[in-house]
Amino acid sequence: MLLWGVIPVVLLSIGGALIYARAFAPAPISDAHERASMNLKPPIANHANAGSCTSCHAWSTNMEKQCSSCHTTDAFKATVIKPHVSAGIGCIDCHAEHRGSQFNAIDGALLSCFECHNDRNKKFYNGKSVATPHGGTFGYPVVNGHWKWAGLDADEMSVRKDTLKLERLPSDTEDQWRSKQFHAVHLYRVRAVGGLPGNKEGELSCSSCHATRDPIDLRTPRTTCGKCHNGQVDARAGGQVIASDKPNCTSCHVQHLQDKRHWNPGLLSTDYADYTDRK
Ligand code: HEC
Ligand code: HEC
Ligand code: HEC
Ligand code: HEC
Ligand code: HEC
Ligand code: HEC
Ligand code: HEC
Repeated sequence: MLLWGVIPVVLLSIGGALIYARAFAPAPISDAHERASMNLKPPIANHANAGSCTSCHAWSTNMEKQCSSCHTTDAFKATVIKPHVSAGIGCIDCHAEHRGSQFNAIDGALLSCFECHNDRNKKFYNGKSVATPHGGTFGYPVVNGHWKWAGLDADEMSVRKDTLKLERLPSDTEDQWRSKQFHAVHLYRVRAVGGLPGNKEGELSCSSCHATRDPIDLRTPRTTCGKCHNGQVDARAGGQVIASDKPNCTSCHVQHLQDKRHWNPGLLSTDYADYTDRK
């Protein structure tokens, strides 16, 4: 008798949970995950989420696996950089949900960097602490006469080695090798903007950053970075998220190496604007 009483109650509450699932959601999910159509080209997801709750909240697998499996296309693969993997930082540390329909997961992620990498944040992530990086402005690759920028991430290197024509010679010191990479990423492929002089194709050349060649001027480079690496209209976010006097963290620290949508295709000279060198 007791059992017969329990079954309908259980059935009712399971049914209720499914039908009224929306009533339990903390706040509406973003429009990107609510709508039944896909707007972005090239596509970054393999199908529309159309408001489904169980696509993210599955019984059997963890949420991040769900995110990654839907966000796998020819143009986008949801990889995470190694330092973040080892600190246990995953999709939802950067991409929040349930912040209302107008909340955009890209905007949120662009702002998440500084919220977490901040002296005021005393939390530990797998035992690792965070601090305000490079004095709160943007990073400069040479510190005390040595290249401190580590160079391209190993995964990025394997993808871009050929198009950037990068080769480490046995005689290259660590400083020279990093300098080579830095120069290769910029020279003759990025458009000279913000009043910087360029070559006749309008691309960055030596004189864009060095006023003199012999001896080499090492003062001017420092004044150029902000013209391109501070906040600007972001092609993927579809607007300006980071203020124009604040550093755009992911322009120097690319998070999704296999994203064919660039942060600012307008800065790439025509030969590279389709961005085909990132597979
Ligand atoms: C069933 C598929 C599916 C799942 C699961 C899914 N997404 Fe999405 N996501 C989409 C679609 C579709 C879009 C919109 C793409 C478009 O309009 O072309 C999107 C957009 C996004 C965007 C870009 C936002 C924007 O406004 O452009 C981010 C970031 C994102 N998802 C992160 C996540 C994260 C993190 C998870 C897991 C918590 C997740 N997604 C789970 C399908 C999915
Ligand atoms: C795009 C992925 C995505 C979709 C779709 C989604 N959620 Fe969520 N949901 C999340 C994330 C991310 C969190 C935060 C989870 C965390 O911090 O572990 C969350 C948290 C929740 C929580 C709070 C859980 C807790 O422990 O605080 C509930 C309840 C919830 N979601 C219900 C729903 C319902 C109901 C729907 C369908 C309307 C839905 N979710 C659709 C990603 C999603
Ligand atoms: C350290 C923070 C961080 C982590 C971790 C992270 N993302 Fe992102 N993600 C970003 C940022 C920032 C952007 C905005 C574009 C950019 O700067 O790369 C973005 C963009 C995206 C986009 C949109 C790409 C486009 O071209 O519009 C999707 C989809 C996405 N992330 C999914 C994921 C998924 C799935 C995971 C987990 C496997 C994940 N992200 C982990 C920071 C992160
Ligand atoms: C929730 C916290 C959190 C968020 C959000 C976050 N990070 Fe991190 N990040 C960490 C932690 C923790 C580490 C590991 C630090 C260590 O190994 O000492 C790390 C490592 C890094 C590193 C490697 C540093 C090194 O010493 O090699 C870079 C670069 C970085 N993050 C940039 C970003 C960018 C850009 C974003 C935004 C897209 C971001 N992070 C978002 C917590 C975060
Ligand atoms: C986007 C800006 C930029 C462009 C364009 C550029 N450089 Fe540099 N260059 C730098 C930076 C940054 C440094 C490091 C400066 C420092 O030590 O403070 C540097 C350093 C150098 C050095 C000093 C040695 C070293 O490797 O650290 C030489 C030599 C040099 N560049 C030559 C050139 C030549 C030749 C060109 C054109 C083929 C060129 N650069 C184009 C930014 C640039
Ligand atoms: C005229 C615009 C411009 C100037 C000036 C410039 N950059 Fe860049 N930078 C770019 C663009 C565009 C890319 C991306 C190129 C690509 O994706 O192929 C880039 C790439 C980078 C990367 C590599 C990110 C990656 O892919 O891993 C770093 C680091 C970087 N810049 C730092 C700097 C620093 C530091 C300065 C100042 C010394 C500087 N840049 C000056 C436009 C510029
Ligand atoms: C113009 C390029 C550029 C921009 C923009 C930039 N960084 Fe950096 N970042 C660098 C360079 C170069 C280094 C290595 C030199 C150094 O450590 O000072 C670095 C180092 C780091 C490190 C590791 C060293 C440390 O102090 O922990 C972290 C973490 C980091 N950056 C996070 C960020 C975050 C978060 C933002 C956005 C608020 C950001 N960066 C914006 C170029 C940049």
